[in-house]
Amino acid sequence: MSTEKLWGGRFSQQADSWVDEFGASISFDQQMADEDITGSLAHVKMLEKTGILNHDDVSKIVAGLVGIQEDLHQGKIHFTVENEDIHMNIESILTDRIGSVAGKLHTGRSRNDQVATDFHLYVKNRLPKIIEEIKTIQTTLVKLASENVETIMPGYTHLQHAQPISYGHYLMAYYSMLKRDAERFEFNQKHTDISPLGAAALAGTTFPIDRQFTADELGFSEVYGNSLDAVSDRDFALEFLSNASILMLHLSRFCEELSMWVSYEFNYLELSDKYTTGSSIMPQKKNPDMAELIRGKSGRVFGHLFGLLSTMKSLPLAYNKDLQEDKEGVFDTVKTILPALRVFNGMLSTVKVKKDNMYKATTHDFSNATELADYLATKGIPFRQAHGIVGELVLKGIQSGQNLQDISMADFKKISPLIEEDVYDVLKPEVAVERRNSYGGTGFKQVHEQIKKAQEELGL
Ligand code: ARG
Repeated sequence: MSTEKLWGGRFSQQADSWVDEFGASISFDQQMADEDITGSLAHVKMLEKTGILNHDDVSKIVAGLVGIQEDLHQGKIHFTVENEDIHMNIESILTDRIGSVAGKLHTGRSRNDQVATDFHLYVKNRLPKIIEEIKTIQTTLVKLASENVETIMPGYTHLQHAQPISYGHYLMAYYSMLKRDAERFEFNQKHTDISPLGAAALAGTTFPIDRQFTADELGFSEVYGNSLDAVSDRDFALEFLSNASILMLHLSRFCEELSMWVSYEFNYLELSDKYTTGSSIMPQKKNPDMAELIRGKSGRVFGHLFGLLSTMKSLPLAYNKDLQEDKEGVFDTVKTILPALRVFNGMLSTVKVKKDNMYKATTHDFSNATELADYLATKGIPFRQAHGIVGELVLKGIQSGQNLQDISMADFKKISPLIEEDVYDVLKPEVAVERRNSYGGTGFKQVHEQIKKAQEELGL
């Protein structure tokens, strides 16, 4: 006695329903229903073209699949756990609709190459949208940067005031990070855009299939050259999760700074009401919830990367059921990063820059100490000695509450007769920024150059 499963021939006992439920993937792999039907359509057309199936049978199967796809788009398709996964659910629905001819669809194919094909298509179809959303943020960054080339703020190392910089320069740093993110997702296509279809269970098939035909039908630029690799490779998913992790890491760093900078202590930025929330108890609060949430959501994306790495690490070739665990993390990552990118862009494009506060923060500090040391060095004092002299001035200044620009000419002269009136200009934050004109530096000219190049890259 065989069981009712599509593969039930050699089984005489039924699994309990709770065991079936544990083994089923339909609760999540139904998100690839569209890809599954598209893959089947390509496969069955190939079966006709190669003469493996006749025109009549193929017409019935195609019409059945197209009907299911239309109903799917209208939310009219119902999946069941008994049918385990999306592949067997679709085949079972097809059988209900067109009868036993549906069973011919699976000729020369296995669920192993089928699921790999669906998953490749799923990622391949989503990469362009992700790249587009990243580019939208890059565009916003460039716009904000161009409005803030001459906005002076403290630059930090170790979160200590280091040297004054242009806020535009700061923004362009994130532009560069996101540019690499977009490039990584673009490269992700290379290893995703390969067709596993026709690898069958693991070893290929005895049917005279045409793998190039199905690859062309599905828009894949390449065909896997090794059937074992085709069914067990998930590098494209690992690369996707890795790229998504680095992207989220970048957004998270920005959001961390954003959260600090809207605080009372920094007060450099103000977020729009649209991207902040109040407190249920403290009426004065305006919390940067969205920034914090993007920072927080980076954790789950990193988790998905580590989850899949761990799932994969000891798998013998070729297909193992463990591979069913590859999908949820990727689906969740797509669902996480797309809205995160959109919210991030909304937040960024509505941020209010408190230029005066940023500037002020560079005038009550010692972030112009390097300027004075450089000044002395250009007058012929060895830089190490100059560094020591300025260090002592800073120490005295901290004790007396006096900044370097407040030191009188007479006192400067006591340090070195080489110091002249022009030192006061050199100590101004805007001059310090402007003069850092080395390639890629924060000097206004350099920032303008970066912006110009970015505009060209984005085709603006
Ligand atoms: N639901 C399965 C998965 O997601 C499909 C492939 C099943 N193949 C098999 N030989 N059990 O991986």
